[in-house]
Amino acid sequence: MTPLLTLQARLRTALTGLVDDPAPYVAMLKPTQDARHGDYQANCAMALTKIWKIKPQEAAQRIIDRLPLDDVLDKPTIAGPGFINFRLKDQWLAEQVRAMAGDERLGVPAVDHPRTFVIDYSSPNVAKPMHVGHLRSTIIGDAIKRLLSFLGHKVISDNHLGDWGQQFGILIYGYKNRMSRDAYRADPVHELARLYVEIKKGFKSDEEDEAGNDPVQQACRTETAKLHAGDPENIAIWREIMPYCLADLNAIYERLYVIFDYTHGESHYQPMLPGVVADLQAKGIAVETDGALGIFLSDKPDDPPALVRKRDGAFTYTTTDLATIKERIETFKADEILYVVDSRQSLHFKNLFLAAKKWGGTIPMTHIAFGSVLDAHGRPYGTSKGGVPLLVALLDEAEVAAKTVFEKSIADRLASGHDVPDFTEAEKNEIHAVVGIGAVKYADLSQNRLSDYRFSPEKMTDTDGNTATYMQYAYARNRSIFRKGNEDPARFRSQPPVVQLTHPDERALALLLLRLGEALQGAAVEYKPNVLTGYLWDLAKSYSRFNTNCPVLKAPDASLRESRLLLCDVTARVIQQGLSLLGIRTVERM
Ligand code: ARG
Repeated sequence: MTPLLTLQARLRTALTGLVDDPAPYVAMLKPTQDARHGDYQANCAMALTKIWKIKPQEAAQRIIDRLPLDDVLDKPTIAGPGFINFRLKDQWLAEQVRAMAGDERLGVPAVDHPRTFVIDYSSPNVAKPMHVGHLRSTIIGDAIKRLLSFLGHKVISDNHLGDWGQQFGILIYGYKNRMSRDAYRADPVHELARLYVEIKKGFKSDEEDEAGNDPVQQACRTETAKLHAGDPENIAIWREIMPYCLADLNAIYERLYVIFDYTHGESHYQPMLPGVVADLQAKGIAVETDGALGIFLSDKPDDPPALVRKRDGAFTYTTTDLATIKERIETFKADEILYVVDSRQSLHFKNLFLAAKKWGGTIPMTHIAFGSVLDAHGRPYGTSKGGVPLLVALLDEAEVAAKTVFEKSIADRLASGHDVPDFTEAEKNEIHAVVGIGAVKYADLSQNRLSDYRFSPEKMTDTDGNTATYMQYAYARNRSIFRKGNEDPARFRSQPPVVQLTHPDERALALLLLRLGEALQGAAVEYKPNVLTGYLWDLAKSYSRFNTNCPVLKAPDASLRESRLLLCDVTARVIQQGLSLLGIRTVERM
C-alpha cells in the first residue's frame, strides 16, 4: 500500500458516519510542500464547517478524534485555519521500504480492472520527411504505452501511417516525369524526398487547387485518384516505393527503440471505406451535401459537416478514421482509444469522436494533444527559412552533445584524481546513444505536453538539471557504490535487511521512494509523463542530499551500512524503472 492510499483509508474510516459520502473529502488529502507540516495535509475540515456548522478547527478535531491511530500514523496536528497535518511513523516507513525492496513491482499494485487500450501514435505521413511533430507523438505515445502497461492494462500500439494520401500522387508524378534513375538507384529515399520537396515547392498555391489553375498540381491529383481507383501502374509504383519509405522510418524507430504492435496504415482500411460510407448513409448519419456526403455534427446550421466522401468520390481522412475505429473495437476489442496527435488536429478529433458516437461507437476516445517544438530562436520548426530539419539531424545533434558531456566528465574525473573505467569504443558509442536519445526524450516528456518547448541539445544534456543525463549519471554513480563496496545488489532484493531511518535525509528519501506508485498514477490520470519526470527529479535531489549527509560504505556501523545500501539499491531501481517507463535507458557505468 502506498502512503497516500494508506492515509486515505484512515481518513475514510474517520469520516464514515460523519458524512454521507467521504470520497470527495478523502480526495482532499495532498502531500505537503514543506516537510515541517508533516508528510500529507488535508483541508477537508474547512469544507465540512458548512455542513457541521462549527469552526474549522473544531471540525478538524472531530475528524482527528475518530482517526484510527496505530503503527502507521503519529497523532495529526491542526494548523492554520483548520488544515490537518499527517505524519507517518518512521518505523512504518522503514518497514514499507524494506517490503518495497523485496517486491519486483517496487510496491506498485497492478490495477484491479485492467482495460484494453489501443493507442495511436507516431503515425507520420510516409514519403514526406518525418518532422519534429511526429517525434513528439512517438516519444509521448511510447511513454504512455509503457506506463499503462506497467499499471496492468492491456495496451495495443498502432502506428496509423499516412500511406495513402495526396503525397503519393506527387511522388508518382515525380517518379514518372522528373526522376533521376541513377539517383533513385543509389539512394531511393533521398531521391523521393527530393522529388517531393521540389514538386511541392513548384505548386502555385499551398491550398488545394480546386479550380485547376496549376497543371502540375492537377496532374498530381490525377495520379492520386488513379492510385485510389486501383490503376495497376500506380499501384505498382506505390508497392515499389513503400518498402524504401518504411525502411527509412524503421531506422528511426530503432534508434528511438520504439516498437509498435501494429502498423495499420491508412491503406489498410481502403477496402472497407465503401462499406463504411454505405452504412453511414443507410443509417441516415451521412447525408448529401453539395454533391458530397457529410455528417452534420453541430446544431448550428452554418457549421460545415465532416465530409466522408468528396464531390469527386474520394474518401477523406475522417472516413478512414471511422473505419479504423470500427476495426479497433471489433478486432482489437478496445475499451478505449487514445490518439497522440498534434493539438492542431483538435477539431478533427472533436468531430471524429462525435461522428463515431452517432455511428454507435460507444467507447471512450481521447485526443492526447501536444504543443510544438521550437527552434533555437523560439519559432516553431518549419516556419523559419531553413524549413523543417530532418528528424535524424536532430537526433545526431543530441548524440554529439552527449559525447561532449561524457568526454568532459571523464576529463574532469581524471583531473581530480578519480579512477575512470577503461571504456571500449563500443561502450562509448553505446553511452553516446543512450545519453543522446534519452536527453531528447526526457526534454520532451518533462514538459507539460500542451506547452511548446525549445529544442536545445546543450540544455537537454545538462548534468546538473532536470534532465535524463542527470538521472543517468546518478544511476551509474549509485551502481559504482556497489562495485566499490564489492556488494551484490541482488542480496538487497532477495533478503532485504532491516531499514533504519536515523537521519532526516534517510527518512525523506524513504518517503519519496514509497511515492512511486502515486507518481505513476498521477502521470496516468491525464496522460502526463511530466508528473513522472517531476517525481524522478525530486527523488534524485533527495538522493543527492542523502548521499552528501549519510555515508553509505563508511556508515558508522554494519547494520546502518546495510540499511543505507538498501536505500541506494531501491533508489537505483526506481530511477531505472521510472526512466524505462519513459522509454529511456540507463547504463551501469559511464
Ligand atoms: N498521419 C497524420 C499526420 O501526420 C496523423 C495521424 C493520426 N492518427 C489518426 N488516426 N488520425 O498528420
